[in-house]
Amino acid sequence: MNNSKILATSSYLPPNILKNSDLEKFVDTTDAWIKERTGIESRHIIGADESSASMAIAAAKKLFATSEYSPEDIDMILVSTCTPAKLMPANACFVQAELGCRQIPSFDINAACSGFLYALSLADQYIKTAVCKKILVIGSDAMTQVIDWEDRSTCVLFGDGAGAVLLGQSEEAGVISTNLGADGSYTSLLQSKGSLLAAAVAPVVEMQGKEVFKKAVKTLADMVKNILDQQNLSHTDISWLVPHQANKRIIEATSKALTLPMEKVILTIATHANTSSASVPLALDTAIKSGKIKRGDLLLLEAFGAGLTWGCSLVKY
Ligand code: UT7
Repeated sequence: MNNSKILATSSYLPPNILKNSDLEKFVDTTDAWIKERTGIESRHIIGADESSASMAIAAAKKLFATSEYSPEDIDMILVSTCTPAKLMPANACFVQAELGCRQIPSFDINAACSGFLYALSLADQYIKTAVCKKILVIGSDAMTQVIDWEDRSTCVLFGDGAGAVLLGQSEEAGVISTNLGADGSYTSLLQSKGSLLAAAVAPVVEMQGKEVFKKAVKTLADMVKNILDQQNLSHTDISWLVPHQANKRIIEATSKALTLPMEKVILTIATHANTSSASVPLALDTAIKSGKIKRGDLLLLEAFGAGLTWGCSLVKY
């Protein structure tokens, strides 16, 4: 059996930063409320000339510029996004063209904030079954393009960005196990109203925050405990929890459920906010680049989002 291993990572954040104090000027909110209820202090906001495709391209180019690998090496591109630059073609095709890859399969998947875990799981399967040797997996979302800036219950929560992972065949352990799930009976708790197809009603995010919060806390706690049980592992085996950065209180609840101290949790929410499917690979790359996550560490990645969808993955880095 082939293993699939994280060979390299990278990320991209748009240069424009919006602080809570900037938001106070045009939204009925306060820096104190946002910090206390979410842990967010600032977020990166996409420029007028950028999109989820251009952010994915920027992250991908950086990955190859800063690693020993070349775009010619890859056998597939998977981009997870719920805010694609265009309805078609897929963001992944724009990435493929910009990188100058071979005519490899390139497509997007959408599982909202859980999208990166879904994409990682797909890539893992293609590699473990020896169909592909190297796959570029990107999470890229431009959530601030689908926000109602007059809805204080959602507009303070999101930011933009992209994170990329090169997953490759290896004899060493890498992605050990991934669990995914969804419950479509809760689609109305977190969705875009309006339509991509009718320009007059551009899509904007609407969320029943409290309900999503409760479901996230319960589902994530069950999921992370299950995956450890399935692998006969204990929380003490985990080097780092790399969670979806939606709300610091949700992350704290997951760490408590695992009896994992917060010192072992990667937190980027203060400066990234919720970047949807970019959140986990962004946190991962940030922690690798800062030297926190090291080769050989056992990582538990997890995410929860619209669908409702969820996913977690145990990864030996
Ligand atoms: O990534 C996908 C998954 N998404 C999530 O996991 C998000 C889950 N939900 C959450 O993170 C939280 O529910 C929120 C951060 C969205 C909201 O926090 P909360 O503690 O659940 O607040 P709430 O919705 O119960 O609102 C409490 C109060 C309300 O005022 P009243 O009715 O008590 O007077 C809101 O109107 O806070 C008010 N409020 C705000 N006040 C200042 C809501 N948003 C704001 C705001 N600034 N931005």
